[in-house]
Amino acid sequence: MSTGAEPDVVITACPDGPLLVRGDVEIRDAEGVPVPRRRATVALCRCGGTAIPPWCDGTHKVNGYTSGT
Ligand code: FES
Repeated sequence: MSTGAEPDVVITACPDGPLLVRGDVEIRDAEGVPVPRRRATVALCRCGGTAIPPWCDGTHKVNGYTSGT
């Protein structure tokens, strides 16, 4: 939990796209195993169409996914 003006972690829902995760947070797979990150900001798929879960691979742009946000 952040005590300053800027939060430690920010998750931004992209309209009709992924969740952008910025900050120092551990991402785990369904078995609870940490998924290695190579970037400070990562995009998590929420359309279900990615070929590289949990990451977004841009498939949401062609599969008709709409987020409603
Ligand atoms: S949100 Fe981008 S591939 Fe699913």
